[in-house]
Amino acid sequence: MSQVSMRSAQWEISATLPVRYEVVESVGLLDPQNQSLLRRLDNAASNAPRVVVVDDAIARFYGDQIKAYFEANRVEINLFVLNGSEQHKGMDQVLDVLSALNAAGTQRVSNPPIAIGGGVMLDVVGLAASLYRRGIPYVRVPTTLLGQVDVSVAAKTGVNFEGYRNRLGSYSPPPRTLIDRKFLETVPERQLRNGMGEILKMSLIKDLMLFELLEEHGADLIDQRFQRPGVADEVIRRSIQGMVEELEPNLWERNLIRAVDYGHSFSPLVEMRALPELLHGEAVALDCIFSAVLALRRGFLSRSDVDRVIRVARRLGLPVWHPSFGDVDLLWAALSDTVRHRDGAQNLPVMSRIGAARFLNDVTPGELAEVASVMLQCVDDSQERGASAESHA
Ligand SMILES: NC(=O)c1ccc[n+]([C@@H]2O[C@H](COP(=O)([O-])OP(=O)(O)OC[C@H]3O[C@@H](n4cnc5c(N)ncnc54)[C@H](O)[C@@H]3O)[C@@H](O)[C@H]2O)c1
Ligand SMILES: [Zn+2]
Repeated sequence: MSQVSMRSAQWEISATLPVRYEVVESVGLLDPQNQSLLRRLDNAASNAPRVVVVDDAIARFYGDQIKAYFEANRVEINLFVLNGSEQHKGMDQVLDVLSALNAAGTQRVSNPPIAIGGGVMLDVVGLAASLYRRGIPYVRVPTTLLGQVDVSVAAKTGVNFEGYRNRLGSYSPPPRTLIDRKFLETVPERQLRNGMGEILKMSLIKDLMLFELLEEHGADLIDQRFQRPGVADEVIRRSIQGMVEELEPNLWERNLIRAVDYGHSFSPLVEMRALPELLHGEAVALDCIFSAVLALRRGFLSRSDVDRVIRVARRLGLPVWHPSFGDVDLLWAALSDTVRHRDGAQNLPVMSRIGAARFLNDVTPGELAEVASVMLQCVDDSQERGASAESHA
């Protein structure tokens, strides 16, 4: 035996970790009779003290109801209020949540914290839970439209770092996510429209019928704050189902060719540079339109398809133009950062038709410049047509 082989050795450890988590719609979560929030993850009833993290809006609108709910069920809580704004979504907030978990004596498994609020706060609590004792379970309750259709299914947590969106984070889905449509009653209208940005994205790459529902009923759904059963159920359930189908086979994102990245190629940097002017779903909607024009340029979509997408975005009250999408240097910087995120490939999702996606890997700054000017033209034309339709009405 050679010297070298006698002095080296190797072990290989291989294990698999089964993952199972549930997303459950439950109306009236804060009704003291409803035990969904209290049930332990093994479904046993539990009265162990809990940390309940909420964002400031939830504290304002539902603080008393939350306290009354736990009081009625004789469960002691530590209510921790976090600033839920995107500008504050950082490691400092994660450390604050960790301190709250530590001060409350949170156990390894049996009294998981409950997070109730918008996507920002849920991402922060999710990251804290994934760090505390190297990972504890938590219960996630999204209270915005975007949270209910998008964050609800996600395995990811994250915070912004050094000007980059969700640059730090983890893959650690909570075992249980609870959705209660009633929370949408108090969500500001602009935030509902923001959630529609993600639903629009899902429809464009995957679900023509969902797109048609948005086209016909989108504006009414916002007016009715998704409170009437029927179309509201269908739109929310189709969106969640679409997310489940896209995420489940690629939960850890080992495959970086992802249709759900549609609308998320240029928007992350644009959104961060424009903060607080553009909300996430608004930046996504703009990216969806830009990418639709790119597909038009490549001959995948017709001009009337693009006009239709712009018309629906307008009807949902989403922005259809922003100067960032005319700033080619910014768009190229955004795409270059996205390429690093996709490990060196553009894998740029575009529509092959409304309701289906394909991918590009050869986009150049010159093409982005052309697309930017065609986008402006399409948006201007659709505005003129909208105005003339109104004057003829
Ligand atoms: N983990 C993931 O995979 C994933 C997926 C999509 C989005 N996100 C993240 O989600 C965040 C966006 O989430 P968001 O759109 O929910 O924004 P948000 O968390 O900023 O919430 C929007 C505003 O609405 C308030 N609010 C929340 N619920 C309310 C209610 N029921 N009534 C009244 N006001 C309410 C919040 O306090 C906040 O001011 C982004 O940071 C994004 O990165 C994460
Ligand atoms: Zn998104």
